[in-house]
Amino acid sequence: MQHLTNKRILLGVTGSIAAYKAADLIRRLQDAGAEVKVVMTDGAKAFVTPLTFQALSGSPVHENLLDTEAEAAMGHIELARWADVILIAPASANSLAALAQGRADDLLNAICLASDVPLAIAPAMNKHMWADPATRENVKQLAQRGVLFIGPDSGEQACGDIGEGRMVESETIITRISELFTLGSLAGLTVLITAGPTREALDPVRFLTNHSSGKMGYAIAEAAVEAGAKVILISGPVSLVTPDRLTRLDVESTADMEEAVKEHVATADIFIATAAVADYRPVVVQQDKIKKNEQRLTLELEKNTDILAMVKTQYAKTFCLGFAAETRDLENYARGKLAQKNIEMIAANLVGPGAEKTTGTFNSDLNELNVYWPGGELKLELATKTRLARQLVALVAQRFTIYKENAENENNIISLKSQ
Ligand code: PMT
Repeated sequence: MQHLTNKRILLGVTGSIAAYKAADLIRRLQDAGAEVKVVMTDGAKAFVTPLTFQALSGSPVHENLLDTEAEAAMGHIELARWADVILIAPASANSLAALAQGRADDLLNAICLASDVPLAIAPAMNKHMWADPATRENVKQLAQRGVLFIGPDSGEQACGDIGEGRMVESETIITRISELFTLGSLAGLTVLITAGPTREALDPVRFLTNHSSGKMGYAIAEAAVEAGAKVILISGPVSLVTPDRLTRLDVESTADMEEAVKEHVATADIFIATAAVADYRPVVVQQDKIKKNEQRLTLELEKNTDILAMVKTQYAKTFCLGFAAETRDLENYARGKLAQKNIEMIAANLVGPGAEKTTGTFNSDLNELNVYWPGGELKLELATKTRLARQLVALVAQRFTIYKENAENENNIISLKSQ
């Protein structure tokens, strides 16, 4: 079976005799692990009732762009944000024309315009409509914009004609959609990620730590898996479910995290340090519980290894993305850390009381990131950590390609000089 576990698929059904096939498609997408929401055009409703798809998908079918109630519940922007992929099956000739023109005159078209996730289209129409120069031009334009076309098949059509224009079988659609998540920008690479807090023991029952929940790091790990990487996730103590298809190693203290990183970093192409690592640890860890006999208690702390800086020093070829969590002066501090640790990129976020938009960032499902690298920067606007993680991973993939090309060019220059 194809893996679409936890993938959110927005299925657009348009006006075609093949609309009934979407019922089977919904079932099979769900069997493959996907969550499905359905958007129907007016044309689609002439062939199948929304009730059928509502019963199958287990959630209300979205139909109208200007329905204020539906807009309030989940409007076109929210539906666009919700989806991991938009699949239009069946896609009529008319829907291809509207998409090619970038129209926003119904809910499905508006969602497609408002979304930046992959768009896949399974066309279904009469063979003459498919072969018509206008449709050919629309298909060409959409394909040039990165739209994935699945089919159509050839064979006997509902109208009695024989030729190209039948919607492909559900199984083929699901295979192609699954490939979108596996043949990604990090295919063939190993990514080592730290996430969550570390804990520094004071005695057998107490420790120093911070508010990190691990959500940001785990979202990045999932996005890297989606992008095709082999992922090793080194996690401090968190209460999150382990994402599919990665190796998770649990650690407690900074020293544990350092050891785990050292054990695995040699195999990694990319190191992403999302963990909120304790900078200091108590000089002495008491064997027994500290008693409250004193009015004042002084803790003596010593510095932990900076794991990220250690990786860049000892494994210089590893591409490193660090994080900077700051309560103010984000850019200055982040750029300082970028230079100090000599790393390739840094993603900076505000934390604490100043981070109202992301309710403190720690443990929030939302975040916003300012990403800096030598000579460049990109602001990733307020969004869920899941969405930001995907954007960040896409950026890492881009920067990593440039980094490798530069390294190769330098090697070529060195070998030319030594000839
Ligand atoms: O886990 P969440 O609740 O989702 O919250 C996410 C987050 C706020 C924890 C995350 O987005 C984040 O900002 N992580 C880095 C937090 C941090 O410790 O930042 P820093 O500025 O103190 O450290 C700079 C970088 O050095 C980080 O990449 C950190 O992992 C690394 N570091 C720091 C200290 C140390 N001893 N070793 C390190 O590797």
